[in-house]
Amino acid sequence: MELSQTIIQSIFLLLNLLISRTRGLKLVRLDVPAIADIFSPVTLKCEYNLEDMNLYSVKWYKDGFEFFRYMPDYDPRSQALKSSGITVDLQKSDMNQVTLINLQFNHTGNYKCEVSTEAPDFKTVAQHANMTVMAYPTEDPKVEGVLSTYSLGDYVYANCTSGKSSPPAILTWHINGAKPDTWSWDNRRGWMEKDSQGLYTRTVGLQFQILSSHFTSNGGGLMPKMEIRCTSTIGNSVRHKAVYPTLVRALTSNSLAQKRLTGSAGVLRPPISIALVLVTSFRT
Ligand SMILES: *[C@@H]1O[C@H](CO)[C@@H](O)[C@H](O)[C@H]1NC(C)=O
Ligand SMILES: *[C@@H]1O[C@H](CO)[C@@H](O)[C@H](O)[C@H]1NC(C)=O
Ligand SMILES: *[C@@H]1O[C@H](CO)[C@@H](O)[C@H](O)[C@H]1NC(C)=O
Repeated sequence: MELSQTIIQSIFLLLNLLISRTRGLKLVRLDVPAIADIFSPVTLKCEYNLEDMNLYSVKWYKDGFEFFRYMPDYDPRSQALKSSGITVDLQKSDMNQVTLINLQFNHTGNYKCEVSTEAPDFKTVAQHANMTVMAYPTEDPKVEGVLSTYSLGDYVYANCTSGKSSPPAILTWHINGAKPDTWSWDNRRGWMEKDSQGLYTRTVGLQFQILSSHFTSNGGGLMPKMEIRCTSTIGNSVRHKAVYPTLVRALTSNSLAQKRLTGSAGVLRPPISIALVLVTSFRT
């Protein structure tokens, strides 16, 4: 009898402890994207559990400075603080979220959501997270210099140029899906230009010689086309541009030019029977 009473008491104590520990205001989830695109609105979300208490305020801070508050007992309930330099879309902001528009690079920083309850509890909880503002390219990278047809032994000289971005995009080449050897990179880091808005354009080169393996499939058969692909990456933005040169057995102006350079007299005046293939550059 005594024992079961003790057990019941213990269970009661434990339950009480559990209840008192779980009772109270809780910030369930702060959703601040690690990266925001300067050209798009961004919505920060703050989920909380009031546990039967009344909400007094939800306040948002950037680097310690308040820029938005929601107070249900005030009119209007939503207020943006213009002095913060942050533009809030009030239509898309409420007790659980705030939407920022007209982003600037200096909006990169630490964002905090702070939730407070009314009397008599006066509880406050807060969480914070970092957000970096980037400018994603608005267009695919451009691939220049690749001809539409090549013969074995020809050299491919190409440039890939990213759309404007900040920070500068990372550009990578793939030949038939594989990364080319480092030696074939003209200039791995590339050239960079910065415009008046602080946006970067990066160009990287690629050079390699056409081998039969470039037109050989995994099964060993001849492939009519090869793929030269450039990928630009910045934050969550990944963009591609691919071109598909074909192989010709006939003499192309590219190899003709090379043979001219080697000074082979026979090639300077080719016999009429050799078909000259018109070589055009890819328009990208
Ligand atoms: C943030 O950047 C914008 C645009 O470049 C500028 O007008 C503004 O003064 C900057 N704000 C701060 C606090 O530096
Ligand atoms: C947020 O950014 C600050 C300043 O750059 C840095 O010191 C801090 O470690 C970052 N916090 C997290 C959680 O990444
Ligand atoms: C690649 O860009 C560099 C620098 O602008 C230029 O000198 C070169 O001719 C370009 N190559 C091709 C194949 O377009």
